Amino acid sequence: MSRTKTYHITTFGCQMNEHDSETIAGMLSEMGFSQAPERDGADVVVINTCSVRENADKRFFGTLGQLKHIKKDNPDFTVCVCGCMMQQQHIIDSIKSKYPWVDVIFGTHNIHEFPRLLETVLSEKEKIIDVWENGGDIIEGLPAKRLYRHKAFVNIMYGCNNFCTYCIVPYTRGRERSRKACDILEEVRRLTEDGVREVTLLGQNVNSYMGEDGTDFSDLIYRLNEAEGLERIRFMTSHPKDLSDKLIQAYRDCEKLCDYIHLPVQSGSSRILKKMNRKYTKDDYLRLVEKLKAAVPHIAISTDIITGFPGETEEDFEETLDLVRQVEYDSAFTFLYSIRKGTPAAEYEDQIPEEIKHERFNRLVELVNEISARKNAAYVGKTVKVLVDGPSKNNSAALGGRTEGFKLINFEGPQDLTGKLVDVEVTAGKTFSLEGRLEK
Ligand code: SAH
Ligand code: SF4
Ligand code: F3S
Repeated sequence: MSRTKTYHITTFGCQMNEHDSETIAGMLSEMGFSQAPERDGADVVVINTCSVRENADKRFFGTLGQLKHIKKDNPDFTVCVCGCMMQQQHIIDSIKSKYPWVDVIFGTHNIHEFPRLLETVLSEKEKIIDVWENGGDIIEGLPAKRLYRHKAFVNIMYGCNNFCTYCIVPYTRGRERSRKACDILEEVRRLTEDGVREVTLLGQNVNSYMGEDGTDFSDLIYRLNEAEGLERIRFMTSHPKDLSDKLIQAYRDCEKLCDYIHLPVQSGSSRILKKMNRKYTKDDYLRLVEKLKAAVPHIAISTDIITGFPGETEEDFEETLDLVRQVEYDSAFTFLYSIRKGTPAAEYEDQIPEEIKHERFNRLVELVNEISARKNAAYVGKTVKVLVDGPSKNNSAALGGRTEGFKLINFEGPQDLTGKLVDVEVTAGKTFSLEGRLEK
């Protein structure tokens, strides 16, 4: 009897990529493959790449290098690479010249073609490169193998039209395309039937979602709020330039919409924001945060910030620190500006020396962490609703889950609470997580 063939997927990058990997895993399952615990020993490996920053590129090439010896020992071992990096010709050229053990290269626009590509490679023992330059029609009905039974990612739109001057995503993911609201609602209906309690709506800029019959993003939230069996709605990511009053109102009206928003600011200097093509000023952003806090007093806010964008002066950077102090973010992802070939900012002549970028980055992280710790400490003694994700990654407690504000919380409790919403009293607040006690 032949044994079941196995696969292993490595994912770099954002939730879009994580969800694409779930789709790839779903397709591999349908093809009869089972999941292998690690790369070594799997028959097919897939590496889903990200090109947002240089270190993502480096990690990918490092991983690819490690596969050489596996291929040498087992010529049937099949290496597939996909994701954002494959949408860049110079990357494909490097793979072809330096990593000849790669068997399949596909891009972000033809994931649905993967089973056909893989079958061809397996039967004909030849290499395939198939990358589409643009996204065609949205393909509905692809399978997905979810990481969690009780929560799911749901794509509502693809691509980005914003062209922030530092960012590669519009080039790797193409122009904005929205799914039909009826398809999204149908997917959520099937997910809740399958036990999903929380959905995260995905898009590079969910605020520009536009479905059929003029259904905009807030309309979609109102409709999802009615979905039977669904308990929580989240979304990633919204662009400050078009966060509407209607969406702020949806936070008040829709009890399933979590009191949490990830609202990337990138910089606190209006001058730098203009160079980044973000289309809002520091004051616009602060006014928006004020409106959100007025409408939803307990809202948790997180953000993305880049230090060392070309031309950033000490004064510009201090504007960023000032904005962080005023907003008091619950958490922030901080990035060193990284040159991305093909983007406008890569050509700017006023690039910032690495040591200055790092020095500012460290000062920013210190401030961000101090505020996170203070905000988390303020939860001590309060009771929070937690959707239990399962065994805690932190050994000191048995269970881990997320609060409505997307804070990680660990507490003791029986494993069969996984997937349930429970009340937990917060007993300690740390920089990156909370600890709590299950309420009876
Ligand atoms: N669409 C999302 C962000 C996608 S990329 C949005 O607009 O909010 C995730 C984050 O990576 C960005 O918010 C930005 O902070 C960071 N990023 C993107 N390009 C970068 C670059 N060239 N250097 C450093 N950070 C970058
Ligand atoms: Fe990149 Fe800007 Fe689009 Fe976000 S909005 S994906 S940062 S171009
Ligand atoms: Fe990376 Fe592509 Fe996401 S570049 S951040 S994986 S859209």
